[in-house]
Order: sequence, then structure tokens, then C-alpha cells
Amino acid sequence: MALNSPTPEALSKLSQIVGSENIFQDAETRDAYSRDETEDLSFLPDVVVKPGSTEEICKILKLASAERIPVTPRGGGTGLSGGSLPIKGGILLSLERLDKILEIDKNNLICVTQPAVTTQTLQEAVEAENLFYPVDPASRGTCAIGGNVAENSGGPRAAKYGVTKDYVLGLTAVLPSGEIIKTGGKLFKDVTGYNLTGIIVGSEGTLCVITEIILKLLPLPTCRTMLQIPFPDLESAAGMVSKILRAGIVPSALEFMERDAILAAKEQLGLTMGFDDAAAQLLIELDGTSQELIDSEVERIGELALENGALDVLLAESSAKQDELWKIRRSLGEAVKQCSIYKEEDTVVPRDKIPELLRRVKELCKQRNISSICYGHAGDGNIHVNLLKENLPDDVWERDLPDIVRELFAIVVDLGGSLTGEHGVGYVQRDYISIMKSDVEIALMRRLKDSFDPLGILNPGKIFPEIQET
Ligand code: LAC
Ligand code: ZN
Repeated sequence: MALNSPTPEALSKLSQIVGSENIFQDAETRDAYSRDETEDLSFLPDVVVKPGSTEEICKILKLASAERIPVTPRGGGTGLSGGSLPIKGGILLSLERLDKILEIDKNNLICVTQPAVTTQTLQEAVEAENLFYPVDPASRGTCAIGGNVAENSGGPRAAKYGVTKDYVLGLTAVLPSGEIIKTGGKLFKDVTGYNLTGIIVGSEGTLCVITEIILKLLPLPTCRTMLQIPFPDLESAAGMVSKILRAGIVPSALEFMERDAILAAKEQLGLTMGFDDAAAQLLIELDGTSQELIDSEVERIGELALENGALDVLLAESSAKQDELWKIRRSLGEAVKQCSIYKEEDTVVPRDKIPELLRRVKELCKQRNISSICYGHAGDGNIHVNLLKENLPDDVWERDLPDIVRELFAIVVDLGGSLTGEHGVGYVQRDYISIMKSDVEIALMRRLKDSFDPLGILNPGKIFPEIQET
């Protein structure tokens, strides 16, 4: 169905809904909202609109439905799959003014929040009450909790604590028609009807606009320690994951970083953690309420690491040292980005398959004569594979890349994995989903999309390959 740019009349109605100070058509603002953190992609919206309430969002969506104007919702703009890129123009709906934590309910260990609160702000607010929201994407300082819900974000702590979906108990959302729905509640059990919360979490802004979120919290762990373990080769580092799990230990984070990722942080950002020559390093975080238990786990992991060829086992006990290591880890995405034009894939495989994934990725890159930098959340099987263009001629890179990506995904699927663990399909992966989803499954997902958004106005062009109109 054809989508339209907003007419002057529609723009004036939008201005009446949100107030003239919250609607932007100038080139600078449109440009700023034309991109997220995905590669160098940019798509200009016709207009940027910043509503201040659920009611205003209802009115905007009613208008957009009546006029068939595309609407792309946006949280912090930190996405890595192009989920908030307004690829069809139209209205860029920035949720940024919905930035209040509404309630921290200590009786129920629950937090109710608006979507534009950054994940870090939310974490710090609940920590001040001795509570814990563990989901911790690398971009936590700038990503919005609503974006985390839309993408079902993960991050390093998924190994022990799960991902965003494991914390969302309920939502308020606006359908593309402008109708409001409420799903779930402050409830730890609820089987009245289908699990709409579960369908909306991770729907990448394609089904509805999330305006309020009810989150489960945990008690704050009182003890935390970290290990930095350098290894002489990738496979022995990656092989530690299964060894640690078999020993009955579930670290709160188990991060894998190959040498070139660590060197990129040093060269591009001046950050260093030592052992720069090691082929790969692990950062392992353990948390809990018993220091004694953590100490015994540290000892056991140290033994296992040395048996597995580790070059050293370094303990980071002080929170200052831990913060420094996390800062380096969180900077890797940014650092690798600065090395070269690149294509980032967000592979995830069963955890015991990570060594084989790495071996086969390196083999593929060697055959195809390109470099790759791998790092990520080994504790949950999620490895970010960055394919680098470096000095390859533009035409060769453009010609070969889609095939290389297909071959990479074929390896991932062969290992029982998935195309994306936490970044989403969005715009950049949409042409590949048939590698792992059957026609029946894709058709079912398209019907689900149609039942929420029959006019196809909400975040068009995402998740599914474009249907060629004849
Ligand atoms: C990270 C982002 C790229 O783990 O997901 O740093
Ligand atoms: Zn990640």
C-alpha cells in the first residue's frame, strides 16, 4: 500500500497535537534523526515529532493512519540494525520527552517507567534503593529502556540474568490505529489470553509504540569481582565457556575479546588493559551475596583457565579496576567502527559451539581475503563478528559482502545458531531472514504484523524483505 509524505495540512495538525516547539522540519534536526549507530546509514524523515504523552501519540497515529504517513519510533538512537531509521521518510516519532521513572515499588520489586529513561539512569535509580536491573547493553549510558524493550536487548549479563524479555511484566502501548492497549501488569503470573507482552518485546517498533513499561527487579548483589584472563589462541579462550558451565559456575558476565578488538580500543581511544599481545582475552564477572562462594568460584575458574593454557589470571577486586575493564569492554564497538568501513554481524550459537564458530569464521575470512574482529558475550553464545573492508576496493567489497554474509549465516545456522542475538533484524538483516526462517514462519510473522498494523504505517521496511511491487 502506498505511503505518503505529510501534507501541509497534516503538518499543521501535528503541530497542534504536540505544540509548535516539539515539531521540527529544519535540515539540521532531520539530519540528526536520519541515522542511528548502524554503519553509515542515513534516511531523512520529512518531520521530527516529539510528543509528551501517550494521548499525543494516539492522536499522531490516528492522523498518520488516516493519511497513510509512515511513522518510525525512536528511543536513544543507539540501535545497530537500523531499527529506528526512517527509511520511508514520513514522521520520525522521538519518544525522548517520555523520560520519567514513574515508580519504584519496593513492596513488589517492580519499577514502572516511561520509555526514554536511559538504561543506566534506571539502573542507578533502582540501585539507590538496593535493587538491581541487570540487563546491561554496552550503550547503557545513552540507550533508552523503551528501545531495549523494542529490541529485546541483551548485553553481557544475559549469561546469568537473561535479557530484557525476562524482566518485562507489562506494557502500555499505542497501536498504529491510535488505540491504547495494556498488557500484563505488576504480575509474576498471568495467562489470561495470549502473551501480548511477549509478542511486543523484541518486535523492533513494528507493531506498536511503547509508552509505559513495568519491569521486574532483583535484590542488588552485595559482592562482585572480576577476572581478566589472556589466552594464546581464540579457541582455548572460547572453550572456557563450557568448562566453566560444567563446573557448575554461572558468571554474571563472561566476555570474549580478540586481540584486534583490544588493540582497536588502544589505538583509536587510548584505552589499554595490558596483555595486548594475547590472541584473546576473557573478562569474567562473578556476583552474588556470598564473598566466600565467589572466592571459591574465582579459584576454580583460575585452575580451569591455567589447565586450558591461559597466559595469566588477573583478579580485579576493586570497583575502580572493574569499572576500567568495563569501560574498555563497552568501548569496543566504537573502537572497531573507527578502524575501517565494516559490517557487523550479531551471531549467536549454543555456547559449546563458540570455538567452532570462531574457527569457521576465521577460515571463511581467510578464503575471502578479508579481516574480521570478533568480540562479545561468550557467556550466552553471542559473538559480534565485524567484517572489515580495510583496503579492499569498493567494488569488490560491495560485490562480495552479501555472499560473505550469507556464508557466515550458513555457518551460524549449521551450528544451531541464529542470525542475531540482541541487535535485531531491523533494516540491515532483513534480506537474510529466509536463511533461518521457513516461508510458513515468515508468512505467519507477516500476518501478525498485519493484524497490528493493517495499513503498514509503523516502522515500514523492517524485519521482512521488501515485497517487490509489480
Ligand atoms: C556490544 C554491542 C556491540 O556488545 O552489542 O558492545
Ligand atoms: Zn553486544
